[in-house]
Amino acid sequence: MTKSFSFTSHANVAFAMLLLFFIMSTASQAQLSSTFYDQTCPNALATIKSSISRAVSRESRMAASLMRLHFHDCFVQGCDASLLLNDSASIVSEKNAFQNRGSARGFEVIDDAKAQVEKICPGVVSCADILAVAARDASVAVSGPSWTVKLGRRDATRASQAQAESDLPLFTDSLDRLISRFGDRGLSPRDLVALSGAHTIGQAQCSSFRDRIYNNGSDIDSNFATTRRRRCPAAAPNGNTNLAPLDLVTPNSFDYNYFKNLVQKKGLLESDQVLFSGGSTDSIVSEYSSKPATFRSDFGIAMIKMGDVSPLTGSAGEIRRICTALN
Ligand code: HEM
Ligand SMILES: *[C@@H]1O[C@H](CO)[C@@H](O)[C@H](O)[C@H]1NC(C)=O
Ligand SMILES: *[C@@H]1O[C@H](CO)[C@@H](O)[C@H](O)[C@H]1NC(C)=O
Repeated sequence: MTKSFSFTSHANVAFAMLLLFFIMSTASQAQLSSTFYDQTCPNALATIKSSISRAVSRESRMAASLMRLHFHDCFVQGCDASLLLNDSASIVSEKNAFQNRGSARGFEVIDDAKAQVEKICPGVVSCADILAVAARDASVAVSGPSWTVKLGRRDATRASQAQAESDLPLFTDSLDRLISRFGDRGLSPRDLVALSGAHTIGQAQCSSFRDRIYNNGSDIDSNFATTRRRRCPAAAPNGNTNLAPLDLVTPNSFDYNYFKNLVQKKGLLESDQVLFSGGSTDSIVSEYSSKPATFRSDFGIAMIKMGDVSPLTGSAGEIRRICTALN
């Protein structure tokens, strides 16, 4: 009797420990899910969407700017809204990393969407999820593809300007460097090419493409270079902030002209043209330049993969009340 009792109690303890281990291991690998807010904030997605549509109808370039914010968030510490934190006693803001300063924009649109969502469900929806949803809604607002956004990310309690400077791709990166940067985040060369297709919308500053258009004899269409030189003087810092469209044909519409441009050697950034410059990704660029439906579908798939980069889940991080500061 005593023996059997002791056996059962040992078995119970073992079972309880197994259960605890199981719960802990699933919590640490908690998966994002598109239905994450269905019970806790059923109107979250509609509220974000109307906020983003309003902003894009005020200024169509905002679609591009918002999509870029999600990318710059996910590549530094994962998709955790670390990008959105302002300088404070404990934060050195990623907004001032050289790839972001004077270039990343649209923060006020995200902050406003967050404020709208806080009104209906305070403390529930993370800034990291708002960035991911905004990127999708921005795409849809400029006739780009749609995809189902996975949710449940939590917000970082730290940021790293130094990591942003080392982790965000540079327009001077070689193809090998781009492939390895994306590979480090579980993104394939095909994802790299598809995601670079975001450059079918938006603008870049002269300082980002000056070397390319004046580096005579490089892999660039000469008429295109001549046109771009008109508003981008050779001598820096003259005209540094003058803008040119990343897609010279349809900068406000999410289509596949970006890839047709690359095939014609009219990529604006060096990091665009290296995708079609005799290397291993030429065939993917060619494919997208003739198959818009394939590009659209691959872009959505790649955005979902990018949104999966190292999210904070479970009880990690926090749900910020405002995106610019820690709670
Ligand atoms: C492959 C590596 C990439 C590099 C080196 C790169 C670099 C750049 C640069 C230099 C600019 C112009 C910034 C300026 O002059 O102010 C830019 C703009 C932009 N990037 Fe990228 N980018 C890359 C990938 C991506 C990805 C993956 C996305 C999104 C999925 C993206 C979305 C955008 C958008 C939409 C703009 C225009 C933003 C605006 O008009 O406000 N880029 N990028
Ligand atoms: C955060 O910093 C940006 C400049 O990077 C500034 O425009 C904005 O007003 C700041 N927001 C808050 C709430 O301090
Ligand atoms: C490139 O060509 C332009 C005009 O064709 C010329 O003004 C410039 O000096 C050249 N630059 C180099 C580095 O050769």
